[in-house]
Amino acid sequence: MAARAPRRIMSGVKILDMTQVIAGPSATHLLVEMGAEVVKIELGPTGDRYRFFIQANNRGTAFVRLNRGKKSLCLNFRNPRAVEIVREMIAHFDVLVENFAPGVMARMGLDYESVRQINPRIIMCSVSAFGQTGPLSSQPGYDYLGACYAGVMDVMGGEPDGSPTLPGVAIGDYLTGMTATAGIASALFYRSQTGEGQYLEASLLDSYFYAQDQAVVRQALYGGKLRPRRLGRHDTALCPQGLFKGEKHWLCLLCPMDKMWRQLCVAMDQPELARHPDFATNAQRVRNRERVIQIVQQWFDATPEDEALRRLNENRVPVAPVLNTSEAVAHPHLRQRGTVRKAQDPMLGEVDVPGFPIRFSSGADPQDLQAPLLGQHNIDVLKHYLGYSDERIAQLKNEGVLIERPVDLPKAQPKPQEARNP
Ligand SMILES: CC(C)(COP(=O)(O)OP(=O)(O)OC[C@H]1O[C@@H](n2cnc3c(N)ncnc32)[C@H](O)[C@@H]1OP(=O)(O)O)[C@@H](O)C(=O)NCCC(=O)NCCS
Repeated sequence: MAARAPRRIMSGVKILDMTQVIAGPSATHLLVEMGAEVVKIELGPTGDRYRFFIQANNRGTAFVRLNRGKKSLCLNFRNPRAVEIVREMIAHFDVLVENFAPGVMARMGLDYESVRQINPRIIMCSVSAFGQTGPLSSQPGYDYLGACYAGVMDVMGGEPDGSPTLPGVAIGDYLTGMTATAGIASALFYRSQTGEGQYLEASLLDSYFYAQDQAVVRQALYGGKLRPRRLGRHDTALCPQGLFKGEKHWLCLLCPMDKMWRQLCVAMDQPELARHPDFATNAQRVRNRERVIQIVQQWFDATPEDEALRRLNENRVPVAPVLNTSEAVAHPHLRQRGTVRKAQDPMLGEVDVPGFPIRFSSGADPQDLQAPLLGQHNIDVLKHYLGYSDERIAQLKNEGVLIERPVDLPKAQPKPQEARNP
């Protein structure tokens, strides 16, 4: 008797994935890692445009990272048969996820009301830049724009007197993917209790705004008088709290509590500073911020980096070297915990990919997942979910409804150092 596959957190959950680029695919990626069955419906002729963004060997490197474990069904939506196939699929799935600009699904006849008519138990999740309602909703948008309208870009990085700066990673896209995943998992739980499906949405703007910390409450208290500032290298409300220059790296050192300052003084072999009337409390240190920063920087200047980190760690002072990606990927801690993982790709070979960020004690062992080629699973999906015959599939191929491509379409490449988030 064949051994049964071990049960996984999302075993048996079927997800129809009409997402592209990062924010939507990151949600379905998390779900697939938890064991959901994900069929990615791609719009021909190119499919997910992330396939040709920042390529190596005609393969979108970020596409591989985000779409492992999904099955690709690529349809030519210029042919009305494509939408008919999606409508047939909807009847067999638990969840439909999409991240087109608001209005696109409705123009395809796939708005929630239409979808619900086909499958009342379905959970439909829309991911957008600014939400499905409100004055900004009709606009297309990417990560950074959500950060702009959330008031986050203004303070995210850069010197207080300089301009805002672009982050080098798509934090908002992944945050939004996680928001959508949490929503989908919660809606599945709700359905398991009530039998009811529902519509939910997540947006870059709402997710970014949720990441706002104390500034929102404080501006309500102080109104226009509060203008949160970019911090630059050092916090202005806590001291010392910021980036110091080490021998090999920038070092991020944080002392949000007075006891950490005292521990730092011990680590620096200057315990008398902890009792000094100019430095004993955070308020005193903030008043004498320049002197504190100078004292700590002078200690870093005089101490080899490894030795400084060892002494800070021994004294439980929160500190970390600012690693670049290559250093992070090679770090034994990230390797040991599977934070970074090896994955196989038919076009790239073995590559490093980010691992799954939640640790379950059961039901979610890491899997060997590969990202699909465009339309790789056209036949499997149509046979498995819709029971299509070989003749019917051949006819759809002849009519140009099904699209399959052995390599991702190439596109002019930015040099790696110029590679940007979309
Ligand atoms: C990502 C985004 C900015 C792309 O904008 P866009 O290329 O203009 O795509 P839209 O979603 O607005 O769709 C516009 C049209 O292109 C079509 N289209 C979208 N993706 C397509 C694809 N991969 N291939 C072919 N056609 C496609 C749509 O069907 C739509 O057709 P219609 O106008 O006839 O209805 C937009 O989809 C969006 O704002 N999505 C929500 C926010 C988001 O997730 N942003 C990405 C974060 S990583």
